[in-house]
Order: sequence, then structure tokens, then C-alpha cells
Amino acid sequence: MASLKAKHGLFIAFAVLIFVFQPHGTAATARKQLDATAAVREDPKPIWHRQFSIDFNETTKLLWWRWSTEGSMLYDALQQVEVVHRANGRGDSMCLSIHPRSNTPCTHLVVSGQRYLIFPELGECCKCCSNAGGCGILDPNWLDAAEYTGQTTMQGRTADSWNIRGLQPNNYYATADVPVGIPLELNQLPTATYVFGESELADGTWVAGSGAWSPAQQQQQQQQQQQP
Ligand SMILES: *[C@@H]1O[C@H](CO)[C@@H](O)[C@H](O)[C@H]1NC(C)=O
Repeated sequence: MASLKAKHGLFIAFAVLIFVFQPHGTAATARKQLDATAAVREDPKPIWHRQFSIDFNETTKLLWWRWSTEGSMLYDALQQVEVVHRANGRGDSMCLSIHPRSNTPCTHLVVSGQRYLIFPELGECCKCCSNAGGCGILDPNWLDAAEYTGQTTMQGRTADSWNIRGLQPNNYYATADVPVGIPLELNQLPTATYVFGESELADGTWVAGSGAWSPAQQQQQQQQQQQP
């Protein structure tokens, strides 16, 4: 994890996701449908990795507002740490609730059962809410109730797609190479879209984004970066 942290600087977070993703009562229904199709064909199951970092572009729509920001997430379900950083926090409901009129970076940090909101350029933070208040990391099993919806092409790659019913429906896309399954896109209908870019697993086995990367290239690049 050291390289992930170094690469992404301090800590970062995934706000909206946490609330929307937690699969509730609809999970059983979704599974039932999945079972029905599984009899015909083995549908691939989506993988949500336990330790990874990933860049994203987020577009948020709220009535007639539309915000876009670049961001990155560091996710570590083993240490229960999650950091989601947005270059501009204005499209995120929690960041927005504190600074509704500022275009300023905003970081969610979840650690030790607490969620912190940090505004690095304003020199502000702090404690936002706790696990008990539903503010923990994104449930690592949030994809369990996903229903396979077939293959498509995305970012020039073959993608598997799934539908996950939460408080709002989610369409999730990942590279069609289960069990690797690098996240490509997440649509939280109707409000938010995340297009994922460069990513890295904690053990450095994959790096994606443009699709032009491979583990071997990644190693070469790291070696070059380490040279003075
Ligand atoms: C995000 O948007 C920027 C600017 O449009 C672009 O350069 C970058 O490649 C995008 N990243 C992703 C992950 O799509």
C-alpha cells in the first residue's frame, strides 16, 4: 500500500457511493433473478477488489445543475480505510453541504470508524460522522446483489455490465476479464456518473485506464521513476 499512498499523496474518499451502494432489501430479488438466468448460462460475477486505488471523472446532475470533477479513490477494505478526493467538491452532497458556494477541492477520509471531510485549500477539516451513522467505507460486498446485463464496449475494451438496485439503480461496468475486472464506469441513475481511469491494485498486478498499460509496462515505468 505504500506505493498507492505515495502516488496519491495523502488520503482521499468516495462519498455519495457509500450511501447509495449499500444493498438493502432488493438484494434477495436481484439474486432470484440472477439464479433464474444462471440455470441457462453461468453469468460472470463482478469483483470489487479489497485494496486498490483508481482515478475517476465524476459528473453529477441535480435538477438543472451539472458538475464535473476529476477525483481519485483509495480503497482498503482490509484496513477499513477509504479516501476519496475530488478536485472540486461542489458536486458531492456532503462537501456541498459545508461549502455550497466554493469551487474547492474536498477529501473524504474514512479511518478508524470515522469519516472526515477535509478541504485542503481552505485548511479546514473535520469529523463528519461515524460508522454508527452509516458513514463507514463502501461495503466490500456491495456488488453481491448485482444482476448481469451482458457485454458492451467501453473505453475501447470489452466490458461486462451489471445492474445493482440500491436506493437508486446502479449500472456497473468492468473489463470482461473476471476475476480481474477493472472498474470502467458506474452510473448511479439518475444523478451521478463515474468514468474510471488509471487504477492500481495493492499488489501492483494491474494498471488500467487508457487500456495501453500492462503489468510489465507498469514495472518498467516504476523502475524509470525510481532512477534519479
Ligand atoms: C477526465 O477528464 C479529463 C479532462 O477531460 C481527461 O483528460 C481525463 O482523461 C479524464 N479521466 C478519465 C478517468 O476519464
